Amino acid sequence: MKKYTSIHDIKNLNKAIESAKRLKQNPFQYEALGRHKTLVMLFFNSSLRTRLSTEKAAKNLGMEVMVLNVNDAWQLEFEDGSVMDAKTSEHVKDAAEVISQYADIIAVRAFPGLKNKEEDEAELVLNSIAKYATVPVINMESSTAHPLQALTDAITISEFKEKEKPKVVLSWAPHPKALPQAVPNSFAEMMQLMEADFRITHPEGYELNPEITKNTPIYYDQEEAIKDADFAYVKNWSSYKDYGKILSQDKKWMMTKAKLDKAKFMHCLPIRRNVVAQDAVLDSENSLIIPQANNRTFAAQLVLKQILEQI
Ligand code: CP
Repeated sequence: MKKYTSIHDIKNLNKAIESAKRLKQNPFQYEALGRHKTLVMLFFNSSLRTRLSTEKAAKNLGMEVMVLNVNDAWQLEFEDGSVMDAKTSEHVKDAAEVISQYADIIAVRAFPGLKNKEEDEAELVLNSIAKYATVPVINMESSTAHPLQALTDAITISEFKEKEKPKVVLSWAPHPKALPQAVPNSFAEMMQLMEADFRITHPEGYELNPEITKNTPIYYDQEEAIKDADFAYVKNWSSYKDYGKILSQDKKWMMTKAKLDKAKFMHCLPIRRNVVAQDAVLDSENSLIIPQANNRTFAAQLVLKQILEQI
């Protein structure tokens, strides 16, 4: 693997999932691989799991880790040819080349503005760093994708599924803030690659990018969609059509124990309790949120390992 900016950078998904499971059994097996190699993680936005699990994964492989909260550094310019006589102090071209001298791999988290669809879909921050960096780049959640989370989710479903082709439902849930589509986008792409009976349910107006959902069945009736599901992946996202807008806060879409029934509950976290899902769901035996978060380490470790093997 030469980079990991999309789930399509995984060559053989089933092999990758099995390799990640083996890393989980024996996390220090490759601790010589990352010796004298450094991961630099650049955060343009907040994180708990991604930051800690990716650092843990790198350390399991023997790597050194440096973290930069980009808001603490010089304000970056992304426009080529810009006359930098205003707020920005450093061009991404220079910053990415400099950081590449300190890093063997650069990982980037940069959320969308959710104001301008074209700008967000251009993935300016991730793509600019990838363009000017001279080392491999990993996406730790960009404007439109969260591929480390999606690999985690695939590992978790593979571990907990009780049939070859489980029914997996991605359900929208209410939230007080406008959230990106990155997690549901990457989850949908991942489920299309996995052996799964995959459906999506949300209120009208919350259709994800049709180039991503493709032929996935869409339901506007959550209970109908979720009936007899093996896995319910619950997540809020803002509207793609009416870009970045909150169209509904309908509490009827919160996941309840009654609706979940026997399905296993998944969420990428962080989650707003009793808004997105009831405490009774999150604290139930059916909830996978804690083992799912644990798998973030082994998804990241698999990606780092495969990149280290190429450099
Ligand atoms: N799921 C996830 O990416 O968590 P953080 O935002 O805490 O990194």
